[in-house]
Amino acid sequence: MPDKPLAGKVALVTGAGRGIGREIALRLARDGASVIAHYAHSKAGAEQTVADIEAMGGTAVAYQADIAKRPDVIALFEQIDRNPGRIDIVVNNSGVSSGGLLADLTDDDVETIVGINMLGPLYIASEAAKRLPEGGRIINFSSSVAKFPLAGAGLYSAAKKAVESFTESWARELGARGITVNTVIPGATSPGMIDGSPEYYDFFAGASPFKRIGKAEEIAAVVAFLASPEASWVTAGSILANGAANT
Ligand SMILES: NC(=O)c1ccc[n+]([C@@H]2O[C@H](COP(=O)([O-])OP(=O)(O)OC[C@H]3O[C@@H](n4cnc5c(N)ncnc54)[C@H](OP(=O)(O)O)[C@@H]3O)[C@@H](O)[C@H]2O)c1
Repeated sequence: MPDKPLAGKVALVTGAGRGIGREIALRLARDGASVIAHYAHSKAGAEQTVADIEAMGGTAVAYQADIAKRPDVIALFEQIDRNPGRIDIVVNNSGVSSGGLLADLTDDDVETIVGINMLGPLYIASEAAKRLPEGGRIINFSSSVAKFPLAGAGLYSAAKKAVESFTESWARELGARGITVNTVIPGATSPGMIDGSPEYYDFFAGASPFKRIGKAEEIAAVVAFLASPEASWVTAGSILANGAANT
């Protein structure tokens, strides 16, 4: 593989101010991509991601949007049209895992979980589909708990399953233009949302024969492969990156 397989490419990474998204942004930049480090609330985090990319000699910008709001996503792409003026790779990394037991589910829970995990990636991909060139990439994010649903995470799991379904449909739609679409399915990963519930580290680590949880850089490596020209024949697929955990 060439040293900088993504040289000349522009990658949008949603949620690049922290967690897995930050590691993805740094990895794609190391692979030569210019990065659009999107954030919703983590302005300082996204600016740090940009600064770290610039420190390694790369280029990046930080743009804000609530991806659950379509006008925000349209405005985000209008900013991208102005600078850097192109987009080749979209990583739909943003996600939230809040929710709870069926009897406790509120309207806010439904709006948030469906809005950010399912509608957000749809709005992003819809705008990207108007712009991605031949060789373009869309990389969606599901979760191991969509494969092994847990009590209290039904809506999150279902929203992530919807994204896996989007992937298969969009791959067939966009393949005619030489664009690939895939899903990455992480298990418990740090830094990332699992850090908000450290009481679950042992549960998830114990579910893997490796007896540990994943590292964000290990998820970023999978994204880097899917984003690379080497992955030109990999599409409509999903890669489970969860250390063979059975949960
Ligand atoms: N870490 C894990 O254990 C794990 C396991 C399975 C799957 N995943 C999936 O991996 C992806 C990354 O998760 P993570 O662990 O890095 O989570 P995280 O550390 O909790 O970060 C969540 C990200 O989502 C963004 N986000 C939240 N609300 C948003 C909104 N309204 N609009 C746009 N972006 C929003 C956040 O941006 P701001 O901070 O700027 O708001 C943040 O960058 C998610 O899709 C998640 O479902 C993670």
